[in-house]
Amino acid sequence: MKITVVGTGYVGLVTGACMAEVGNDILCLDVNPEKIRVLEEGGIPIYEPGLQEMVQRNVAAGRLHFTTDVARAVNHGTIQFIAVGTPPDEDGSADMQYVLAAARSIGRLMTDYKVVVDKSTVPVGTADKVNAAIADELQKRGVQTPYAVVSNPEFLKEGAAVEDFMRPDRIIVGANDEQAILLMRAIYAPFQRNRDRLIVTDVRSAELTKYAANAMLATRISFMNELANLAEKLGADIEMVRQGIGSDPRIGYDFLYPGCGYGGSCFPKDVKALIQTAAGDAGIDLKVLTAVEEANDAQKHVLTRKVQTRLGQDLSGKHIALWGLAFKPNTDDMREAPSRETIAGLLAAGATVTAYDPVAMEEAQRVFGQMPGLTYAESPNLALAGADALVIVTEWKEFRSPDFDVIKAQLKQPLIIDGRNLYDPKFVRAQGFEYLAIGR
Ligand SMILES: NC(=O)c1ccc[n+]([C@@H]2O[C@H](COP(=O)([O-])OP(=O)(O)OC[C@H]3O[C@@H](n4cnc5c(N)ncnc54)[C@H](O)[C@@H]3O)[C@@H](O)[C@H]2O)c1
Repeated sequence: MKITVVGTGYVGLVTGACMAEVGNDILCLDVNPEKIRVLEEGGIPIYEPGLQEMVQRNVAAGRLHFTTDVARAVNHGTIQFIAVGTPPDEDGSADMQYVLAAARSIGRLMTDYKVVVDKSTVPVGTADKVNAAIADELQKRGVQTPYAVVSNPEFLKEGAAVEDFMRPDRIIVGANDEQAILLMRAIYAPFQRNRDRLIVTDVRSAELTKYAANAMLATRISFMNELANLAEKLGADIEMVRQGIGSDPRIGYDFLYPGCGYGGSCFPKDVKALIQTAAGDAGIDLKVLTAVEEANDAQKHVLTRKVQTRLGQDLSGKHIALWGLAFKPNTDDMREAPSRETIAGLLAAGATVTAYDPVAMEEAQRVFGQMPGLTYAESPNLALAGADALVIVTEWKEFRSPDFDVIKAQLKQPLIIDGRNLYDPKFVRAQGFEYLAIGR
């Protein structure tokens, strides 16, 4: 099948590579010429486990191509995935300009039947707008080329994106055009060989499903973070509470980890956008989600607060080693990462910071630029030298079982402030550390 993917970011590149992997003929379009140059030269612009090899394999096999040429991209695929960004607008609602620009390009240039698939996370009603934008462009040209618009939200997780795409829990297809549904079933058949995971819904339900899923997951995290803060005050251990409630199959263990706040390109913006959709279009005040967002904003300051509680409000002259910059492990994505608030808070209080992350340091340098007081180290241990405390922000595997003797020898004082509850407090304290975690 000939497929075009519009937008070659985290979602677009993974979609393109995985669709090529099962034999399709894929053309990925992006407006960013630098991204396309990197890809054409055999590199990839993001870190995602397994992706580079898959991209290289499919480029070599002649099934995966990249371009900045819009006309070529529109002409290529019967299926046109739109996977461009939908960043928050000033009021928190999703900014639809990129999605609608992509739709207009398709309408302006298409000459035969197209299935236009919204894969970006878009507010309910967007498919109607995409439909109208294409219809408008066709009308301007005085042609009546047939097309269908489908909502197919993406549920992949950064850090496990290839695995998630190749073995999806579910594939949501919101459509009312039988030919389009047939095509969507055909292109997703290779990803669900042992049982049918494709759920066909109406378009609006598909659009809302994506927001509902992310809002639910964000709610679990904020709920646990608030309970963790309470557990600390009450002298309980949130990790024991987590296991106690997770064992209830109605609750389950997933997404119950307290920490220093959720970040990334999805939860913060999708929670905001859903609140805005409800308030604007439907006149409904989503009280639970408003609280979820507030709790998360507060939680992103928890590590700075703990450092200040222990080392003083004024951190002038204090030096902090910080492990983890990415918003979660196995990605270099720093969008809305808790490390950004933590570093900003520590620097504002007068501290200096040396940070280490296995893959996100280049991205951090792009995000922070030349930030006085912030330096980077080549290894976790090099980051520790002469620091007054070690602060852990991201739960990378390589931080899970460190050499505590080395940490103690490098730090000025044996103080660990752990935003991800990586260690057994009894064990770490027995090694001679003062250990502050979340909710324990
Ligand atoms: N990142 C995730 O984990 C994830 C998961 C599920 C859904 N989503 C959703 O998928 C969408 C894309 O997210 P992302 O993280 O891949 O974004 P991204 O910023 O990594 O990539 C978007 C790409 O689209 C390109 N682009 C913008 N306008 C374009 C146009 N008119 N034509 C061609 N290319 C264009 C940009 O240059 C960029 O490379 C968002 O709506 C997001 O909410 C993301």
